[in-house]
Amino acid sequence: MTDLPMTVPSSGQPDRVTIYEVGPRDGLQNESALVPVEVKEELIRRLLAAGLPIVEATSFVHPRWVPQLADAEELMRRLGEEGRDLPVLVPNERGLDRALELGCRHVAIFGSATETFARKNLNRSLDEQYVMFEPVVRRARDAGLDVRAYVSMCFGDPWEGAVPVDQVVDVGQRLFDLGASQLSLGDTIGVGTAGHVTAVVDAFAAAGMRRSDLALHFHDTYGQALSNVQAGLRAGITTYDASAGGLGGCPYAKSATGNLATEDLVWFLTGLGIEHGVDLTALVETSTWLAGHLGRPSPSAVVRALGSPA
Ligand code: HMG
Ligand code: MG
Repeated sequence: MTDLPMTVPSSGQPDRVTIYEVGPRDGLQNESALVPVEVKEELIRRLLAAGLPIVEATSFVHPRWVPQLADAEELMRRLGEEGRDLPVLVPNERGLDRALELGCRHVAIFGSATETFARKNLNRSLDEQYVMFEPVVRRARDAGLDVRAYVSMCFGDPWEGAVPVDQVVDVGQRLFDLGASQLSLGDTIGVGTAGHVTAVVDAFAAAGMRRSDLALHFHDTYGQALSNVQAGLRAGITTYDASAGGLGGCPYAKSATGNLATEDLVWFLTGLGIEHGVDLTALVETSTWLAGHLGRPSPSAVVRALGSPA
C-alpha cells in the first residue's frame, strides 16, 4: 500500500502549477443537504492547512437561487481576516456590495459562452451579462480588489450542444477585458476531450491572450478531466481548478456533476513531479471527514483508494 505515486517526469510540462480549490463554493452549492456553517468553516480551514494556496469560499448570489450558500455573510465573518483573502463569486453590484462590506479582496464574476446558459444561470441574455458585469469589475478594481472571470460552457452546452470555439474566445476575451486578472475556462458539464482543450487554449493564444492569464476548470462527468489537464499542461496552462473529494456541479446546468477531484489532480501532478504544495494525506482525511457529514462516500478515486470509509 502506497500513499504517493512514483515520480516520473514527462517532457513538455511546467515545473509547478497552482491548484485553485473550488470545493466549498462549486462543490457545496450543489449539495441537496444544507451543510452547517461551522462545517463549511472547518472545511475551508482544513483545506488551507493542507497547503491549498487558493480556496474559493462562497458566493454572494441571490439566496433564493442558491440556498446552499445563503450563509455567505456568516461564513465570511467566522473566517475573519483569513477569509478576506479567499475569492468569492459576485454576479452583480448587489453581490459586490455584500463582498465589499465584509472586506473581501478577491471576487470572481461568472459569464456564459452560450445564450441559453446566460439566461438560465444569470437571468440575462448573452449581451446583457456584460452590462451586468461591467460596473462590478470597474467598482471592484477601483476599490483595489482582484477580479477573476469565469466563462462557462466552453466545451459544450446541454441545451445548445456544440459551442463554436470562436464564440468561446469572443465571450472569454470580452469578460477578461472588463478588467480581470485571470480567465477560467469552464467545462461546466464535463464533455470536453483532450484535443478540444488544446484547440480552445491555442485559439485564445492566437487571439492574443497570454497562457499565464488562463485557468482550466474541468468537471469530471465523462471521466476526461485528468486527460484534459494533461492537454492543458502541454498547452502551457499552469492554473487548474479542482474540488476536494470531487464535490460539485452547477445547480443551473443539467448534467453537470462533480468537479475534477483535487486529490486525483494532486496524485497525477505528484506522479509527474510537478510541484503543487499540497499535503495529499491531509486532503484525503478532510474529504473523508466531509463525506461523513454529507452521508455519502466521495466520488474521487484517490479518496476511495486512500481514505478509510466514511
Ligand atoms: P435576478 O432575479 O435577475 O435579479 O437574478 P434582479 O437583479 O432582478 O434582482 C431581483 C431581486 O434580487 C432584488 O431584490 C435584488 O436586490 C435581489 P428585491 O428588490 O426584489 O427585493 N438580488 C440579490 N440579493 C442578494 N444578492 C445578490 C442579489 N442580486 C439581486 N447578489 C442573479 C440575477 C444574477 C442575482 C441571479 O440570477 C443569481 O443569483 N444567479 C446565480 C446563479 C449561480 O450562482 N450559479 C452557480 C454559479 S456559476 C457556476 O457554478 C459555473 C462555474 O463553476 C464555472 C463552470 O463550471 O463553468 C463558475
Ligand atoms: Mg464549475
